[in-house]
Amino acid sequence: MSQPMSRRAFVAGAAATAAAAGIAVPRVSSAADKPALLGGTPVHKGGWPGWPDWRQSWEPEILEVLRSGRWSSAGGGGLAARFEAAYAKLLGAKRCVATASGTTALITALHVMGVDAGDEVIVSPYTFIATYNVCLMHKALPVFADTDPATLTMDPASIESRITERTRAILPVHIYGMPCDMDPINAIAKKHNLAVIEDACQAWLGEYKGRKCGTLGDLGCFSFQNSKHIPAGEGGAVTGLREELLDRCQAFHDCGRPFGTFRGSGCFSRGTNCRMTHYQAAMLLQQIDKLVAETERRRASADHLTAGLKQIPGIQPVRLPENSRAVWHLYAFRYDAAQFHGLPRGTFIRALGAEGIPCGGGYHEQYFDGILDEAINSRGFKRLFSAERLKAYRDSLQELKGNKQVCETTVGMFNTVLLADRSQVDRIVEAVRKIHAHSAALAKKA
Ligand SMILES: Cc1ncc(COP(=O)(O)O)c(C=O)c1O
Repeated sequence: MSQPMSRRAFVAGAAATAAAAGIAVPRVSSAADKPALLGGTPVHKGGWPGWPDWRQSWEPEILEVLRSGRWSSAGGGGLAARFEAAYAKLLGAKRCVATASGTTALITALHVMGVDAGDEVIVSPYTFIATYNVCLMHKALPVFADTDPATLTMDPASIESRITERTRAILPVHIYGMPCDMDPINAIAKKHNLAVIEDACQAWLGEYKGRKCGTLGDLGCFSFQNSKHIPAGEGGAVTGLREELLDRCQAFHDCGRPFGTFRGSGCFSRGTNCRMTHYQAAMLLQQIDKLVAETERRRASADHLTAGLKQIPGIQPVRLPENSRAVWHLYAFRYDAAQFHGLPRGTFIRALGAEGIPCGGGYHEQYFDGILDEAINSRGFKRLFSAERLKAYRDSLQELKGNKQVCETTVGMFNTVLLADRSQVDRIVEAVRKIHAHSAALAKKA
């Protein structure tokens, strides 16, 4: 029969088990190390890796673009074409069309998949606002699926009830680099003859069942904006597996000029100019190996962090779809204030910040910000949709219960914490444990 354990033996045993599993071993909190928010000493006093970072070795290629006088990628070839080939290979995509930004990649993909004025697109509400904007730019209504609180991504079970005869496409977002559960989404799309456009703007090298994000739907869209894991200041890409669709993307992003399958037929379609410059491509080409190496590093740190955090009551790590790998643009978890003596999430975030761990609350319920009201009250939308439809649409925003929960309970840290040394990553677990241990005192002060 097992003997009852002394507290010291329990702590020593737990520490040994955790250490063997490679999990952070937190110091036991005491009155001496009270929370920094209440005047104690911060757990982490050093900084965190900055972003973006660059190498001097990139300079010659960028200077070469400058000296060549060939800065625009109009006419094809050059570094932009080299980047397109390299990025497509990295993803296992048929091709890649490099664009000026993630937003313009999405605008291109929606156009090519036939999203037009008066259509509806089923969208993840938990996303950067550009995902809403690109639908509105096409004068289509973004109809929000709900968010699954366990995954923070589109809840496939909420899609079908939102499909109408106007629905043209589904636009899931691999938010924070966490792949959506694409099999059920693709199955629903197939059943209702809808296009699937992946917003993979935060999911470079994200994987779902052995395939990369950006190759899982009809077309996938990426962003290379300054904060991204492979940044060029601005930049984007459309990827996919179907040559003809990519030819259409190529044409649309280059003023409607004919390309590939459509060569020789004149400007056969509408278009815009959202070409990437060779400067952007030069920056991106230098970073492919860096992206691969840093993605593995972020993954290893995230696994380690999750193993430590999930032991703390009230911290719920995010669930990924089976057989998938995230890239952690943000490392997010859900926070249950009830397990922290009712400490509000905002105070928890401030307390973690005071401990030297920068974090935030992620996206809020942006659909109430006014963007949608401005759109649906505009002349164009009123012409395209009936007053009843627009009213029903506005009312339906109240039904996004899962998304509301996610917006109110998520805590996220920018991915650079995952690039820090393992000992620094351990400080995150230690800080959360400390706040948990002192949550009653913190809640009283909140
Ligand atoms: C999910 C998501 N979609 C779309 C975009 C738009 O990309 P860009 O800023 O490159 O236009 C972003 C960029 O932050 C994003 O995070």
